[in-house]
Amino acid sequence: MHDVQGELPPITAKVNEAMEVEFARRTPKSQAAAAKHSVIATGPRGAAYGPYSIWGSHAEGCRIYDIDGNAYDDFSNVATALIHGYAHPTLGQAIFEAYCKGSQLYGFRSAYREQLAEMIVERVPGVEEVIFSCSGTESDMYAVRIARASSGREKVLRFRGGYHGSYDPLIGYDPGPWPGFPKSAADDVVLADYNDIDGFDKALMDHGPELAAVIVEPVLGTGGYIHQRGGFLQHVREATRRAGVLLVFDEVVTGFRWARGGAVERYGIDPPADLVVFGKIIGGGTPLGAVGGRADVMKVLVGRDGRLPVIAGGTFAGNHVGCAAGIAALELLTAEAYDRLDRLGERLRAQLKDALRAAGVVAQVTGDASVCAVHMTSEPVTDARSAATAPPPLGRLVRMGLMNRGVIWSSGGLSSNTVMTEAEVDHASEAFASALDQIRPAIGELAPHMLE
Ligand SMILES: Cc1ncc(COP(=O)(O)O)c(C=O)c1O
Repeated sequence: MHDVQGELPPITAKVNEAMEVEFARRTPKSQAAAAKHSVIATGPRGAAYGPYSIWGSHAEGCRIYDIDGNAYDDFSNVATALIHGYAHPTLGQAIFEAYCKGSQLYGFRSAYREQLAEMIVERVPGVEEVIFSCSGTESDMYAVRIARASSGREKVLRFRGGYHGSYDPLIGYDPGPWPGFPKSAADDVVLADYNDIDGFDKALMDHGPELAAVIVEPVLGTGGYIHQRGGFLQHVREATRRAGVLLVFDEVVTGFRWARGGAVERYGIDPPADLVVFGKIIGGGTPLGAVGGRADVMKVLVGRDGRLPVIAGGTFAGNHVGCAAGIAALELLTAEAYDRLDRLGERLRAQLKDALRAAGVVAQVTGDASVCAVHMTSEPVTDARSAATAPPPLGRLVRMGLMNRGVIWSSGGLSSNTVMTEAEVDHASEAFASALDQIRPAIGELAPHMLE
């Protein structure tokens, strides 16, 4: 039943075995399905939560159901995208109406696209113009291309542990090289550590004149919701400005989740980022992405004075179904909705810390706004290096322990949505406390210094 995870030491192996037995007891139909060959090639996260992938049946509100009839409170929210949960009737209606009016009028301007773009411009500081894509990855790719065309330079500085989708230069060599990525992808990338002001300044000093852009996630999302410390983001803003390097905020996770105007607004970044990348929430549960920016930077998208335009966009970029869902999703994000999302996030962070304290386990809770993560390490987590000090089996055991107790979290951690209540948050905290109790012997074996 074991998946690929290397040899576990004896006590940890026993805890793992008990969890896998419980996992299998709860999900016999999924296990039977897993035994059958699938023609779908499984990606690296195929069995993220246990020894095999659970077969989902349907989802509604903040809950996913599997074919064995188990219900899971979903704190992954499709990697933070579904801020209004599953099958929200308002979004469903908007999607249906847009589809019935023609899902995409290729080559035409349309009210759907214009309205969503206007809503983005109105909400996000510094954004004057917008282009659409179909995903966060695509948007990051276009942002880099726009920055290169605008600056006439090629290199991009990004932070270790940051995630910007799967575009070659933004992922290939950290910690890769991953198979299939060209060696040349590394040539145009400069790496620095998140939250390390001195290291960043040095990298900027060494490479500034070659840099088209610095790209940063305001919170290291997939890297474990690691939040900024000591005014890091404002420092990056001021330093890039002084160096004449464009700053790209990858707000695929934080955009419209951190605040109406995203992390730029919440952290009062002044002047705002030069380019902002969006995905997830702006599609209202459908695949949509966008890049917004200052008009003088975005102008390279239009060919002028004999210059060719930057190539961006695609068949379904800015399709009406996605835009209609995005409009409805943003309209539902009222001041009360943000207040509620943040309160649930704060409650969860506080309760996870309480659970660790009560169990006498020294570990780290990171996050801000409506997201949080637990890092099973005694070292304060401020960047990718400190996050990597957590022994990998512990994270997997926590994840499987929560799954066995009907709670899902994603690779980054846990996020709340607008249809959750305190009851789901309390359930997640109780599940964590109970899983921690089960995992304690493994902690004692793998990292005894974490036990008080
Ligand atoms: C910060 C960030 N940027 C980009 C992406 C890629 O977005 P997508 O999965 O829509 O391609 C993600 C996805 O999780 C992300 O978290």
